[in-house]
Amino acid sequence: MNRFSIVKLVPKAVVLPMLIALSFTLQSCYYDVEEELYQNTPCVTENVTFSQTIQPVFKRNCVVCHTGAAGNGGIDLASYAGASVVAKNGRLVGAVLHASGFTPMPQGASQLPACTINQIKAWVEAGAPNN
Ligand code: HEC
Repeated sequence: MNRFSIVKLVPKAVVLPMLIALSFTLQSCYYDVEEELYQNTPCVTENVTFSQTIQPVFKRNCVVCHTGAAGNGGIDLASYAGASVVAKNGRLVGAVLHASGFTPMPQGASQLPACTINQIKAWVEAGAPNN
């Protein structure tokens, strides 16, 4: 084997493992919130809690307009106390379902995913507990 064939061989031996390693690295950066990628993923509506399920939804989609006593429509979704009021008077479910007679929420954005709506309904039907 002369000097030139070694030079030609080395890149192949090095580049291939590097590509494989790189593809794994890129995969780990892949956006993979399962629920948002695959709408067919079974929707879990058991063990829905205010702190783990409902509050994060409000934080992402609602508190920008509904925080404190001055929240839009006088509705405060940043606290359990405020959220439980609209949960128990039926306005929360009506609004996220876009049911007639209610102002559709979140205002100015697309309707929440069906699974999220079902989780809100499950929490409300369980009596909107502070869990
Ligand atoms: C861009 C601002 C904005 C966002 C975001 C928003 N709301 Fe509202 N919301 C309002 C306004 C303004 C009203 C009062 C509308 C009215 O009285 O007709 C309101 C009213 C409501 C009502 C009362 C509806 C009724 O018919 O009585 C509920 C319940 C509600 N919002 C829940 C939510 C929930 C839950 C989210 C998040 C998923 C959300 N809102 C996101 C602005 C917003």
